[in-house]
Amino acid sequence: MKKKLLIAAIILGACGAVAFPLLNLVIPLPDSRLASLQVDDPVTAAALQVLEAKCVHCHTSEIQLPWYGVLPVAKQILEYDMYTGLKHSDFMRVFFPEEEQPVDQVTLAKIEYTTENRSMPPAAYLLMHWNHRMSADDDAALLAWIEQERKEHHVLPGINPDTMFKGMQPLPESVETDPVKVTLGQKLFHDVRLSKNDTVSCATCHDLGKGGTDQLKFSKGVGNAVGTINSPTVFNSVFQFAQFWDGRAVDLADQADGPVNDPAEMASNWKQIIEKLDEDDAFQEEFLAAYPEGYSKETFTNAIAEYEKTLLTPAPWDDFLKGDESALSDVQKAGFQHFQDLGCYTCHTGVLLGGCSYELMGLRRDYYRDRGNVVEADYGRFNETKDEYDRFRLKTPTLRNIALTFPYFHDGTVETLEEAVDSMVKYQVGKKAQASQTAEIVEFLNSLTGSFQGVPLQ
Ligand code: HEC
Ligand code: HEC
Ligand code: HEC
Repeated sequence: MKKKLLIAAIILGACGAVAFPLLNLVIPLPDSRLASLQVDDPVTAAALQVLEAKCVHCHTSEIQLPWYGVLPVAKQILEYDMYTGLKHSDFMRVFFPEEEQPVDQVTLAKIEYTTENRSMPPAAYLLMHWNHRMSADDDAALLAWIEQERKEHHVLPGINPDTMFKGMQPLPESVETDPVKVTLGQKLFHDVRLSKNDTVSCATCHDLGKGGTDQLKFSKGVGNAVGTINSPTVFNSVFQFAQFWDGRAVDLADQADGPVNDPAEMASNWKQIIEKLDEDDAFQEEFLAAYPEGYSKETFTNAIAEYEKTLLTPAPWDDFLKGDESALSDVQKAGFQHFQDLGCYTCHTGVLLGGCSYELMGLRRDYYRDRGNVVEADYGRFNETKDEYDRFRLKTPTLRNIALTFPYFHDGTVETLEEAVDSMVKYQVGKKAQASQTAEIVEFLNSLTGSFQGVPLQ
C-alpha cells in the first residue's frame, strides 16, 4: 500500500515537474515597462530585449506574479526570488531614473558579472522556465551593450578607452583647475580659523599624511566632540558621483559647507569666519584678486573644491591598467584575479574602485544583526531620501589608498585590511575567504596606494 502511494506520488510529482515548465512555454510572462522603451540604437535594443524576456520579472517591484503565483509553494518561492532579486538590482530605477542619466557603472559591472558567470536567471527558476536559459547570443547582446555604454558614458576625459578593464580605469593625470584659486583653497583647507575656536581645520580630519583621513574610528571636532561616522579620504574625491556616505552633497563645493556648520566638527558658520578673515588684510587682498566678488559661502567653497581637485594620487595600479605588466607583482595579480572572481569589482568599479553607487552593507548576510546596536548613521542613503529601498545603503568607498585609511567601514569597527576583506567576502559576496585568498587580495589592494605630487604616500 505504502509502496503504491509512493509510486503514485512520484508519478504525480514527475507530471507536475514536466507540466509546469510545459505550461510556462506557452503562457508568456506579463510585459514590464522595459518593453515600452523606444530606442533607435540596435545594440541597446537587443540588450533590452534580453533583459525584458529573461530578467526583469525578478528585478522590479512593478510586475504582477505570473499565472502559477497563486499556487501555495510556488508563490513563496516566487516572492522570495522577486524580493531578493529586487534587493540586488531594481531595473526600473536604472532604466527609468528620476533625472535623465545613463545606466550606472555598477549596474553594468553586475550584469557583466552575472553574464560571464552564467549565474542568472537562477538555476531553480530555469528548472521551471526552460526557454529562459541564456543563449550565447543573449550573452553577446548584453556584453556588447555594456561595452558600448561604458565607452559612451563612463570613460573620463583624457583617458584612453582601451585602458579601461571591466569598467575600472586609470586616474586622469590632472583635472582642470585655476591655480590661483587652488592656492587659496589650499590655505583655507589648512586654516583653523574656519572653526569656532580656531582649533580645527579640514586637514585635522583629512590629514594628507594619513591617507587623507584622521585614522580614527570617529573624528574629533571642536572641543573634542566625537562624530558618528568614520571620516573618508579627500584624495581623489573629485571623481565620486556624490559626497558623504549618504551622498547628501552633490559635489565638493556643496560638501565643504557641511563641516563648517556641523556642531561636532567645526561648529562655526561663514559669517563668523568672514568676521575673522576681515582682520587679515593680506589674505583678503589675495582673495579679491581671484574672487573680485569677495568673501561668501560660494567663493570659499569654490576655492576649497578647486584645491581638492588637485589631490590626485596615481598608483602602480594605474601603470598596470595602462599596460605595464610589471607594475603589479605576481601575488598582486593573483589578488586581482580573486577580486574579479569574487565580484568585488562589481561594486568597487570605475576610476576609484568605488564612489559610484549606494550599496547595501550586508547584501548577503545581515551585517547589523551580527554587529548589533543600529544607529541613525547606519541608515545611510535612507537618511537623505526617506525611501525604504535606501535603508542601509551607503556610498561604496573608494579603494584607492585603502592601506592607509584605517580603521575601516563607516562605523570604524575594523582595524586591519585583512579583516575588512574577510568581512566583505562574508557580507557582500556571501562566501568564506581562504586565508591565502585574503592575503593576496590585500597585496593587490596595496597596489592602489599612490603618490601625491610625486611622493609615495605612506
Ligand atoms: C527568478 C528570478 C530572477 C530572474 C529571472 C533573474 N534574476 Fe537576477 N537575481 C535574482 C536573485 C534572487 C538575485 C540575488 C541572489 C543571487 O545573486 O543569486 C539576483 C541577483 C542579480 C544581480 C546582482 C548580482 C550581484 O552580484 O549582486 C544581477 C546583476 C542580476 N540578478 C541580473 C539578472 C539578469 C541580467 C537576469 C537575466 C539574464 C536576471 N538577473 C534574471 C533573481 C532573478
Ligand atoms: C571633525 C572632523 C572633520 C572636519 C573638521 C572636516 N571633515 Fe570632512 N569629513 C569628516 C567626516 C566624519 C566625513 C563623513 C561624514 C558623512 O559622510 O556623513 C567627512 C566627509 C568629507 C568629504 C566626503 C568624502 C566622501 O568620500 O564622501 C569631503 C570631500 C570632506 N569631508 C572634505 C572636508 C573639507 C573640505 C573640510 C573643511 C571645510 C572638512 N572635510 C572638515 C570629518 C571632518
Ligand atoms: C555589493 C557591493 C559590494 C561588493 C560586492 C563588495 N563591496 Fe566592499 N564595500 C561595499 C560597501 C557598501 C562598503 C562600505 C561598508 C561600510 O562602510 O559599512 C565597502 C567597503 C569595503 C572596504 C572598506 C573601505 C573603507 O574605506 O572603509 C574594503 C577594503 C572593501 N569594501 C573591499 C572589498 C572586497 C575585497 C570585496 C570582494 C571580496 C568587496 N569589497 C565587495 C560594497 C561592496
